[in-house]
Amino acid sequence: MPRFLSAKPDARLIPLPWNVPLAKWPTEHLVALPRGISRHVVRFITVGDEVYAAKEVIEHLAIHEYRLLHDLTRLGTPAVEAVAVVSGRQDLEGNPLDSILITKHLEFALPYRSLFTPGVRHETVMRLLDAMVVLLARLHLQGFMWGDVSLSNILFRRDAGSFAAYLVDAETGELHDRLTDGQRAHDLDIARTNVFGDFCDLQAGGMLDESLDPMVLVDTIESRYQELWNELTGMEEFSGSELYRIESRVRRLNALGFDVAELDIRTSADGQTVTLQPKVVDAGHHSRRLLRLTGLDTEENQARRLLNDLDTFRARTNQQDVDEAVVAHQWLTEFFEPVVNAVPPELQGKRDPAQIYHEVLDYRWYMSEREKREVPLSVATQGYIRDILRNLPDEAMVRDAMVQVQEGDNRQLANPYDPSLGYADDDDLPPVHDPWEDAAQDVDVSQLNHFDINELRARG
Ligand SMILES: Nc1ncnc2c1ncn2[C@@H]1O[C@H](COP(=O)(O)OP(=O)(O)O)[C@@H](O)[C@H]1O
Ligand SMILES: [Mg+2]
Repeated sequence: MPRFLSAKPDARLIPLPWNVPLAKWPTEHLVALPRGISRHVVRFITVGDEVYAAKEVIEHLAIHEYRLLHDLTRLGTPAVEAVAVVSGRQDLEGNPLDSILITKHLEFALPYRSLFTPGVRHETVMRLLDAMVVLLARLHLQGFMWGDVSLSNILFRRDAGSFAAYLVDAETGELHDRLTDGQRAHDLDIARTNVFGDFCDLQAGGMLDESLDPMVLVDTIESRYQELWNELTGMEEFSGSELYRIESRVRRLNALGFDVAELDIRTSADGQTVTLQPKVVDAGHHSRRLLRLTGLDTEENQARRLLNDLDTFRARTNQQDVDEAVVAHQWLTEFFEPVVNAVPPELQGKRDPAQIYHEVLDYRWYMSEREKREVPLSVATQGYIRDILRNLPDEAMVRDAMVQVQEGDNRQLANPYDPSLGYADDDDLPPVHDPWEDAAQDVDVSQLNHFDINELRARG
């Protein structure tokens, strides 16, 4: 009898064929979705309306990873959510099988290889690197040393015009009270080595734009990380006549999406010099505000955009003196919800609601510019659904993703549930190229506000 370790068990998982090695599971329980390269056997399994990722791994590692993922979720760090560990498995002959770690499939996650394809704009790549850097800094702020940063161990999600990065593989992680500079440097070193390897792989497969040099890319990761870390934690010294710098530091940190828990401010005996060191709590400054006001759970830049729209609404309707929560409720029911509810069910898998709203706002802006008039939101919504949303690839990628991808691809996968095995008619071993990702379209970021440390600094 297998044992289930789980804080929130899903009873529908219990009858699954745990006595079969994961690689041989009947396809009725599986769903073919894109994913990164892995050491272990990984499959996406489906029960009811839920999709889980299952990884076959030895017991103590499965439990270690389960606990770490739990801790990260508790700390509010973006990571996949641990659901259960199934251990004590045996096959029909009574031979022991490895444990299985089950996590919730992260919806709307984009496979990195479709994000770095040729033709992707330089800026997009920089935004992906920024998302990685923010993830790494957030983990480090929490005392988490990853030990295995790589592109395959990160999932990217759209976040307005930028991306948000999630940790997917915590097997080598360690959680400490706080990290030493040495530990952070070590993690960054691993990131450099692995990500350099990932980029070289992409390059060898002709999947990296020629203008992008792997070495420059990893240098960028390092320098942006150092910059962000200094902004988040660095000590600042200024004269007693420049006290406004305290306020501007807080504003800059908020602009980066981080909240400040404490400011350690010291003044020299003669009052001439002030030193300032912030203690930053986690990112999510805007998404927490939006959640508090509206109950919407979004990524940070999406929240920024939605809050801007809310603030605009408040100003236009002259409600500056009305309680913010009351205005937020009005905005939610009169603006946000009608847009999201206008999306037909069959198109809902293409974008999450906050992303749709953000893209409708963009669409309206361009349409208004073109037509030199103020386009009503309802008109923009219909236009967006018709011109843009309908033509986008499905990003929730649940269930019918397999069918869709196969229609666009004449070649047969060796195993549709394990895209890393490549095509059936391939003679060469083992292709790194993931055919699922060919079907995923280029990312359109021809516009939009984005995360740029320098720009935010300048604004701050
Ligand atoms: N919960 C999840 N949601 C979405 N994708 C996942 C999830 N868990 C794993 N994956 C995909 O499976 C791949 C392999 O998982 P990972 O935990 O990194 O395995 P390994 O330890 O063998 O490297 C990842 O790169 C990711 O693309
Ligand atoms: Mg991995």
